[in-house]
Formats: sequence, structure tokens, C-alpha cells
Amino acid sequence: CGIIGHVGNGDALETLLTGLENLEYRGYDSAGVAVQNGSGIAVEKRSGKVQELKDSIEEVSLTGEVGIGHTRWSTHGPPTDENAHPHTDETEDVAVVHNGIVENYAELREWLRGKGHEFTSDTDTEVIPHLIQYHIDRGLDSEAAFRRAIDELEGSYAITAMFSGEHVLYAARQGSPLVVGIEDDQFFLASDVPAFLEYTDTVVYLEDGDVAIVDEDGIECTDLAGEPITREPETVEWDPEQAGKGEYDHFMLKEIHEQPVSLSQAIEGRVDPARGRIALEEFGPATFEGVESVQLIACGTSYHAALYGSLALNRAGVRARALLANEYSVGAPPVDENTLVIAVSQSGETADTLNALRQASAEGAATLTVTNVVGSTAARVADETLFIRAGPEIGVAATKTFSSQAVMLVLLAQRIADDVRGGPGADLESLLTELSRMPAAIDDLLSSTNARSIARRYEGCQSYFFIGRGLGFPVALEGALKFKEITYDHAEGFASGELKHGPLALVTPETPVFAVFTGTEDEKTLKNAEEAQTRGAPVIAVCPDGHRAVDVADAHLEIPDTDSMLAGLFANVQLQLVSYHAARLLERPIDKPRNLAKSVTVE
Ligand code: G6P
Repeated sequence: CGIIGHVGNGDALETLLTGLENLEYRGYDSAGVAVQNGSGIAVEKRSGKVQELKDSIEEVSLTGEVGIGHTRWSTHGPPTDENAHPHTDETEDVAVVHNGIVENYAELREWLRGKGHEFTSDTDTEVIPHLIQYHIDRGLDSEAAFRRAIDELEGSYAITAMFSGEHVLYAARQGSPLVVGIEDDQFFLASDVPAFLEYTDTVVYLEDGDVAIVDEDGIECTDLAGEPITREPETVEWDPEQAGKGEYDHFMLKEIHEQPVSLSQAIEGRVDPARGRIALEEFGPATFEGVESVQLIACGTSYHAALYGSLALNRAGVRARALLANEYSVGAPPVDENTLVIAVSQSGETADTLNALRQASAEGAATLTVTNVVGSTAARVADETLFIRAGPEIGVAATKTFSSQAVMLVLLAQRIADDVRGGPGADLESLLTELSRMPAAIDDLLSSTNARSIARRYEGCQSYFFIGRGLGFPVALEGALKFKEITYDHAEGFASGELKHGPLALVTPETPVFAVFTGTEDEKTLKNAEEAQTRGAPVIAVCPDGHRAVDVADAHLEIPDTDSMLAGLFANVQLQLVSYHAARLLERPIDKPRNLAKSVTVE
């Protein structure tokens, strides 16, 4: 989602709409603005494109001096006019835009309902203006009410609020970016610098825990309790074209680096290591009770996530198979009402996957979609939906959506096993503990990786092979797919034990072999890697430090020593980076590889 705000002389609307257009590259499904128009707060919001919002603003001839705007990427509730931001309380005395997730929104909403508040949207955001208004009604001034409400929120957020009749914006940040832009007596607030880059390049980055109060006289930064904090202005040296990518040269690299955040968002509120619980609140009690077998259908990268999910289900004692959606109409195993068919699709719009999903549904199977897009066709067609909350992905080569899909499928597998067999299949304590550490551990991996030097070392080889066993197998397939998609070099993924049944004929000193070790039958995988090494192929071991493979291999990509259910996903991040750097050396158009589309809506 994107936030923009403006305080200063002149019409705020133009700045807000320009800001929203600048934020379009992030992807969104609805947009809205709120301005002070002299007699109070006026709100205009729409599902759909910024152009539609502009048209409706022209119709009602909205003007205003101070304002906030938002582009929404749905996480709670579909993209409708009601769910679009800004949100207000009933009296429209306060308007709020928000990025992130209010984890305790359900409790807060119930509590506020008990106090007589009525809600008009499905969003978590709507509780914020109501909570602020609640405190105003009890005699607090705007600033105190804002601080009190922020203090009561759990989760991650970037919030900007505005009160009727005040030429002031109130902002707070916790886990979601927020930046102030300054140009003389004009001030801008945004989730990203590109939102206001044509107006100013002087910015103040807010930090987690900051509260900023911005008016025509300047910015006051404090902590939540009101203690002043100094945040120095900086100058950004990006051109607007570059700005969407931030400090990164490509969206793909940016999205690889976003994985700690996208994974945190995916698991937020869904894992509870302290109580050894998985909380997938989207499913009612015993939703999966009668399920006898599971089929996962998908294409491309999502198919690899589906394969990962099918293995997690099998490990949990649930019969499961991953199938290519485009082969489903000609080779689907029979289904009945005890079959659960899970469509895995980041876009939710892939024609092959939708056809397979519809076929399964027509044949009487129960259906579920795992997707990144609220309101997508797959989400509407399936009986149940699980959103991966990865945020928009611009690079055609999927990266962060893959890791979020795989993690959500691992969680879903435990939940299905629990419903079907009366207990999760895995060692939940270890899994949940390692899962909650995963975002920070990926951050560490990203800052210490040697993927670039590996890419350089093996530049110009004839073919690139990727092998893995168990959960390492889908990771090997995905490693090879990423590599071929963006480098245009030949790459193949194999089950490591399968190498000797044919592909070994291709192995030469010109075919580096990336071997993924996930802690399951690693000795066998190592033996397979050595078989390739004996034929002259350099072996790159993707495994923890201290692993036996490190001594044998020619090179090493390190992953942390973690639960075997998650190890492959760390290996995947290393392999994403190797592909990225290899493609970069070849000067490929990394974000838009030739002949490929982000979402293929034809069969
Ligand atoms: C296209 C993309 C792939 C993607 C596949 C499935 O082919 O280029 O990166 O994996 O579609 O997309 P979905 O949206 O269903 O996950």
C-alpha cells in the first residue's frame, strides 16, 4: 500500500493525486483521499485505478488545503469503495490512512462496538479512527488521543491521521516505512520517497516508535510518550525513474531483500510459538476434518511452492500430490467431496490454474486458493482462501511470493493434519520457533551472502544444474527456473538421486552443480554431488557452515542451521541471488525477461 500526505499553502489535492500516481508502480486495487475543505473533512475513495478516483473528484469538485491519500493493496476484505482508505469515524472528525496490519483489530472492534461504535468496512484500519474518536469523546485533545490510540495498537503500521479543522498531520511508524519531505513551508508525508520526489529531495526518515506532528511551521518528532527526538534531514539523490526501486538497481533485487518483511507479514498473528499453536483464523473449526487427500495445482514458480506444500503435507501424514495446472484437464487423478484441491497462484489470475480449479470444483472437490491478491478470480472461485500477504511484486521473476507461498503451505499442512488426524504432523515447537526467527535470519543471510562472487566465478559455463532431495527438490527446480528465466542460460533442476539415471551424461567441468542440503538424507545428496564432481563438475554446496558437504564441495553458499522444513527456503534465497548476479553480469533485462509475463491469462 502507499501513503501520501500534504500540509502547506495551496491546493493539497494536486499533490495527493500526483503522489498516488507515483505510487502506482507498487500495485494497488483501490485509492482514496481526504482533504480539509473549510467546513470539515471530505473523503473520496474508489476501488480501481487512480484515474477513476480523479474522475469522481472532478464530479464532486473537491478542493482542500491539507490532506491525506492512500493506494490500497487488500489484506483484510476485498477491494471495494468501503474498504478503500482513508477511513473515518462516524462523525468524520478524524481521517486515517494506514499501511501494515493491526493484529488486535478484531478485539478492538468488538470492544468499540460495545461502546456503540458502528463499522462500515471489513478492514483492520477502520478501528484506528474509531479508537481515536473514542479518546476525543473522553476529553483528550487530538494529539493525546492519537498517541493513546497508537499505544493500544498491536502489529505493524505506518499511520497518518488528520482532524477536522486542523492544518496538522499526525504520523506514527512501527515496522512500516514513513518519510517526511520538506520544501520551504510545504511538507509531504509518504510511505516512499517517490511519492513526492518531483516536489522535493529533502527528506526526514522516521524510525520505528516515532510519532511526527507536521504543520506549516515544521515537523516535531517525538517518541510515543512525547519525548522529543532529533531526526536530521537528508538529501536523496534518486531520479524519479530509479526511485521506485529505492536503493536497488532492480525490482527483483528489492523484492529479494523484502523477504524478511514479506515473511513477517505472512506469519504475523498466524504463529504462536509460546503456545505451540498455529492460528489460521480464516478457517472455521474443523474446516478440513473430512479431507482424505489433497491435490495442489499451480504453474511455474507457484508449482514449485505447491510441490513444497505437498511434501509438507505428506510429512504431516496427509495424502497429497502437486500437479501442473496445465496438465490437469488431461491427467487429473479422480476427485470427490473428500478431496481438497488447493490452487496456488500469486496473481490468482493464471488461466491454466483457474481452469483446473473450476474443473475440480465442478467435479465436486472442496477448493482452496493460496494467493497474494485479495479479490482475484482464484480467491473468488475457491471455497476457502489463504492470503500470503507478500505485498505487490513487480519483477516478472517471482521471489518473495514464492517464499511466502511455501511458508503458508507449511503452516496450512500442519492445520490440515490437525483437523484430519487430531494433531499436527511436525515437531511444532521447533517449527514455530524457527519460523518466527526466519525473517531476522534471512536478513542476516542477505547481509553476509557470497552469491555475487559465486555468480562471477562460474560465469560463462555451458549449463547450470541444481539438485536436491525431499524439500530440497522443489528448491532445486525453482533455482533452475529462476536461473534460466533471467540469464537465458541453460539450467535444469533434478531430484539429486535422479542425476545418475540420465542427466549425468551431460555433466562436464562446464556444468556447475548447485547441491541443496536440507537436513534430510544429506549423505545421499552428498554422494550424488560427488558423482558429478568425479566427472569434473564444480559443486557448490548450499548448506550450513560446518556441514560435511563444505569440505567436499568446490564452493559454499551458507544457510543457517534450522528446522529441516524451512532450510530449503533459505537455500532458495541464496539461489535467487546467484541467478540475479549471473543475469546482471550478462546485462539482461532482469525485471522483464524476454517472452515472459508476470501473469499469463491465456491457456
Ligand atoms: C507466469 C510467470 C511465472 C509464474 C507463473 C504462475 O508464467 O512468469 O513467474 O510463476 O505465471 O503465476 P501465478 O500468478 O499463478 O503464481
